[in-house]
Amino acid sequence: MSEHRTERGNWNSKLGFVLAAAGSAVGLGNIWGFPTQVAENGGASFILIYLICCLIVGLPVMIAEFAIGRNTRRNPVGAFKKLGNGWFPPLIGLWGVMCGVMILSFYLVVAGWTFGFVFGEIFYFTGLTGASEWVADLGNGFKNAIFTILFMIATIAIITGGVSNGIERATKTMMPILIAVLIIMIVYVFTLRGSMDGLRLYLLPDFSVVNTSLVFAALGQAFFSLSLGMGALLTYGSYLKKNQNIVESATYVTLADVGIAFLAGLLIIPAMFVAQYSGITIMDEDGRLFASTTLVFDVLPNLFKSMGGFFGLLFGASFFVLLSMAALTSTISLLEVPVSYLIDEHQVSRKKASIGIGGLVMLFAVIISFNINLIDVLATIFNNVGLPLGGLMLCTFLAWFWKSEKAMDEIRHGFEDMDNTLFPKIWPVFVTYICPLLIALVLITTLYNLIR
Ligand code: PHE
Repeated sequence: MSEHRTERGNWNSKLGFVLAAAGSAVGLGNIWGFPTQVAENGGASFILIYLICCLIVGLPVMIAEFAIGRNTRRNPVGAFKKLGNGWFPPLIGLWGVMCGVMILSFYLVVAGWTFGFVFGEIFYFTGLTGASEWVADLGNGFKNAIFTILFMIATIAIITGGVSNGIERATKTMMPILIAVLIIMIVYVFTLRGSMDGLRLYLLPDFSVVNTSLVFAALGQAFFSLSLGMGALLTYGSYLKKNQNIVESATYVTLADVGIAFLAGLLIIPAMFVAQYSGITIMDEDGRLFASTTLVFDVLPNLFKSMGGFFGLLFGASFFVLLSMAALTSTISLLEVPVSYLIDEHQVSRKKASIGIGGLVMLFAVIISFNINLIDVLATIFNNVGLPLGGLMLCTFLAWFWKSEKAMDEIRHGFEDMDNTLFPKIWPVFVTYICPLLIALVLITTLYNLIR
C-alpha cells in the first residue's frame, strides 16, 4: 500500500501541487458550465453571486479539504474514518465517491464532444464538410459514445501509470497557452459587431433577476468548478508535503479557476450576440438568452468559421485540444477518488481499481451518450445538490468531530506565521457557521420551492 502512496504522493514541487489542483478545478466547469449558467441566469448578477459563493464558501471549504487530506494521507472514506468514529464520517466519503462516479459519467460525454470537435474543426477547414457535420451532431449517440470511450481510455491510462508527473507536466504547459488563446479570441470577438451588447449583459448586473434558483445554481456551479464537496481536492491534499502553505495554495487555485471562468464567459456571451447579428436567434420571447448544454458547442465553431481559413483552423483546433486537456486533468481527479478508495479501503490493485471503476463509469457514460437530456438532470442532482451537500457534511464534520483547532494545527505547517494573521480568527467562523448555514439555507429553500 505504501508503494502507491509514494507513487501518487509525490508532487514534485510546491508549484506542481498548485498546478495539479488547478488542473482539477479548471475544466469543462469553467468553459462549458460557467458561460451556460451565466446565459441561463441573466448575466452579470449571476457572476456576482457566483464570486461571493466561491470566496465565502468555496475557498474555506477548499482549505478544509486540503487540511483533512494532508493530515490523514488517505482517500476520502479513509480520511473521515480516521478522524471520527461512528457511521457519519465514512458516509461523507462514500457520498463523495458516488458523486464522483456520477459526475464523471456525464462529464465524459461533454469531454467527448470537446475531443470530437478537434477533428470537427480539422475536417471543416480541410473541406471534409460531411465528416465535420457528423462530429458536430451532438445528438448522435453512436458518435458520442465513440469519443466518450476514447476519452475514458485516456483517463484510465493516466490514472494507472503514476499521476503526478503527467498532471504536473500537462498543466504546466497547458494552462498558460489556454489563457493566451482565450485572450486572443476575446480580443477578436470584441472587433465584431454585436459584441458590446454581450459585454454589457456580462458586466452590468440586473438585480431584478436574482432569486433563490439563481443562488442555488451559483452555489452548485462554485462547488463543481472548484472541484469541491466530493473529496477530489482532499485526495490531492493527501499527497501534499508538510512544508506547503495550504491557505496560499487554495487561494491561488481559487483565483485561477475563477479567472479562467470569467475569461470564458467574456468570450462566449459576446460571441452569442455576434451570432445574433448574423441572423441566429439567441433569445426567447421574454428576452432571456437561450442556454442549453450544447450552447458553447454551437457558438464557438461558428466563431472559428467566421475567422476563416488558416486562422479558423489554427484557433479552432488548438482551442478544442486545450479544452480537451483541461477536461482530462479534471476527469483524472474525478476518477482518482473512487480509485484511491478501492485501493486503500478494499486492497484492490491500482490497475484493477482503475479499470473496474472506469468500466462502470464508461457504461453509464455510453447510456448518457444516447440520452443527452440526462446531462442536465444529472448535473442538477449531483453538481447542484450533491456537491454542496458534501460540503455541508464536510464542514459539519470538521467543526463537530475533528474540531477546527486541530485543523488549524495542520494548517500551521507550512504557514508558520499563521497566528500573526487574521486567518485563525476568520476561517473557523466560516467553516463552523457561515458555510454550513449558507449551504443549508440554499438547499432547504430550493427544496421548499420545489415541493410547495
Ligand atoms: N472542476 C472540474 C471542472 O470545472 C470538474 C470537477 C468537479 C472535477 C468535481 C473534480 C471534482 O471542470
